[in-house]
Amino acid sequence: MSNEKQAAYWNEIAGPKWIKIGDAMEARLANITQLLLDTAAAKPGETILDVGCGTGTTARPLSEAVSPAGHVTAVDISTPMLEVARTRGGPINYLQADAQTHNFSPTKFDLLASRFGVMFFEDPVAAFTNLHAHLASSGRLCCITWAPLAQNPHWQIPFNIVRAHLGEPEPRHPHAPGPLAFADAAYVNYILAKSGFSRITVTPTAISIIGESLEAEARMATLFGPPGALLEEKQPSPETREKILTEITTALSPFQTGTSLSLPATVNLVTAYH
Ligand SMILES: C[S@@+](CC[C@H](N)C(=O)[O-])C[C@H]1O[C@@H](n2cnc3c(N)ncnc32)[C@H](O)[C@@H]1O
Repeated sequence: MSNEKQAAYWNEIAGPKWIKIGDAMEARLANITQLLLDTAAAKPGETILDVGCGTGTTARPLSEAVSPAGHVTAVDISTPMLEVARTRGGPINYLQADAQTHNFSPTKFDLLASRFGVMFFEDPVAAFTNLHAHLASSGRLCCITWAPLAQNPHWQIPFNIVRAHLGEPEPRHPHAPGPLAFADAAYVNYILAKSGFSRITVTPTAISIIGESLEAEARMATLFGPPGALLEEKQPSPETREKILTEITTALSPFQTGTSLSLPATVNLVTAYH
């Protein structure tokens, strides 16, 4: 089976963690959802594949945009993420499968859409070649991935604090499956071109993450992304963890606006055609 490691990770570790956070994750990434929806510009009657759909945050508005004649298939490898997605309703075909290898025939999609669901493939060329094969000849792709860590202070600041306490992470290939695998625009271009896509654009786009509160966002940084991954790798004592959390809270406090928090981030907005 392909993507075994990521399947285990999203079923056993990241999926349950993501679900525990509940609506807070959806709320903080709302600007990024809107960027995807605005750029994808789904139209009534279209057929869409939402890749790595998670709990269905983007599948639902996409489904509304194409209704009543259109249809959304939303694919994910994670049972817990899909279980939540299904409780949230909508006439969406939620499908548990590996998007790298699944045969979606006979459907040909008008739009392949994804918010942060395409950076986890073991073999990205195989995955995008498979997706390209299920795209209509007039179809398009619209995905959002994270830009490099240095352009994402919401992660970089907490990561620096975790690293100061616990040391460097184990060396890993910059394109290894993970949130930053598609940070390099030239690499994304290469993958998509090799997979058969044309008229590829990768546009780094500055955007704000809106945290519910300083405390919530500091805790979020200890669970997800590069700082969360480093904490998971090093497994510090509860005391050290608490110290790190306090320092992250202080470091993020300049970004407070009223009771919420506006954190600068950069995503790669990726578009392409068949
Ligand atoms: C960072 S989450 C994003 C979820 C959702 N798109 C969102 O923005 O809320 C990445 C998702 O990709 C899914 N995923 C990872 N590898 C996959 C694969 N090979 N096929 C399908 N889904 C995959 C994970 O299970 C997870 O739900």
